[in-house]
Amino acid sequence: MKIAVAGAGYVGLVTAVVFADLGNEVICVDVDPAKVDAINKGKSPIYEPGVDELLQRNLEEGRLCATTDLVYATRESEVIFICVGTPPTETGEPDLRHVDEVAATIGRALNGYKIIVNKSTVPVGTGDRVRRIIEQHRVEPHEFDVVSNPEFLREGSAVHDTLNPDRIVIGADNPRAAMKIVELYAPLERPMLITNLATAEIIKYASNTFLALKISFINAIADLCERVGADVVQVAKAMGYDQRIGHAFLQAGLGFGGSCFPKDVQAFAHTMQRYGLDPSLFQQILAINEARPAQFVARIRERLGDLQGKVVGILGLSFKPNTDDIREARSLEVIRLLLQAGATVKAYDPVAMPRVRAIYPEVIYCRNAYEVAEGADALALVTEWNEFRQLNFERIRDLMRQPNLFDGRNLYDPQRMRKLGFYYYGVGRSADSNEFRGVL
Ligand code: UGA
Repeated sequence: MKIAVAGAGYVGLVTAVVFADLGNEVICVDVDPAKVDAINKGKSPIYEPGVDELLQRNLEEGRLCATTDLVYATRESEVIFICVGTPPTETGEPDLRHVDEVAATIGRALNGYKIIVNKSTVPVGTGDRVRRIIEQHRVEPHEFDVVSNPEFLREGSAVHDTLNPDRIVIGADNPRAAMKIVELYAPLERPMLITNLATAEIIKYASNTFLALKISFINAIADLCERVGADVVQVAKAMGYDQRIGHAFLQAGLGFGGSCFPKDVQAFAHTMQRYGLDPSLFQQILAINEARPAQFVARIRERLGDLQGKVVGILGLSFKPNTDDIREARSLEVIRLLLQAGATVKAYDPVAMPRVRAIYPEVIYCRNAYEVAEGADALALVTEWNEFRQLNFERIRDLMRQPNLFDGRNLYDPQRMRKLGFYYYGVGRSADSNEFRGVL
């Protein structure tokens, strides 16, 4: 199939390389000539495991190219994916400007029947809006259909998620269009659900909001655990064995960041309001999440006292492991609060340091975790990169001025850390001397 993908961000680029790898002819479109240039040279403009390899293979085999010319790409394609960003406006509602611009250009370029598939995360009703814009800008009376095909990929495992989605949702008001998209996804052999446009649009927000709800829920439980001498990790583990609940997204800690959850929950709350419904459940998910970094820093202050002149080391800066993305990263708020309190902040992250340096040049950026630990009064684990799992903690302890470990992702075993001589704080894990815990 001949496909155009408008927008070469995480969703667009991964969609493009995966469809090309499945044998389709794909034209990737972006307004940024530097991105287009990089893609055509086989260099992914995003840090995402596996993308470079797929990109190079499909460029070499002539199934993929990139351009800034959306008119050309539309004219050459049967199916056009819209994968542009929908950043939040000041009110928290998504800014649909880029979606509108792409729709208008597609409308002007129509030269035959096309299917326009929206993959950007957009509020319910956007499919109809895209249809209206295309109709308004259409020069020749060609037919077209609009489809909603929300994306569920996660950064860091985007290629794997795109090839192995739990489900594929195809929202269309016309069976002809739906079947064409079913055909496109058929090689993946995954469950597909065909719905109307509005249903598909809601599925995306409802899914992300529910996952964010699980995280805020377990974080609220973590606060109670801290007050009463319980361990949230064990609470979550026991809850997760109930198959109706499941283990996923019950990791208490510093909360969720990234370009999706914070903005999607906020947008969904606005949608509720717009339709006269009570948004408070969704607002509370955000409120719990926003309080996490301040609570974490408060624990550091309780332990160290006045932070003026104290050195705090941060391990991990990206909003989660395996990405250089720092949008809404918890590290940014933790650093801001520490600097505001007068602490000297040292940090290390395998890939995200250049991005954070642009925001906080006053932070001391290190080459590894050991350099961060040197002379520190406290070490704070903020992003659970794999390389932080098996650090040499004897060495870390000896390098630190005071061996205080604040585990923002509950990565480490509290008992082991305490035995090694650390003061250990884990989120929702108050001191617990029970040696016999665990799953038998
Ligand atoms: C999320 C969804 O998981 C994807 O399905 C969706 O496609 C994507 O948003 C999107 O809408 O584009 P992503 O933002 O890449 O994906 O990252 P997640 O792996 O979901 O993690 C989000 C945040 O939640 C991270 O900051 C992570 O540290 C945090 N988290 C996750 C927790 O605090 N606890 C958990 O138990 C799980």
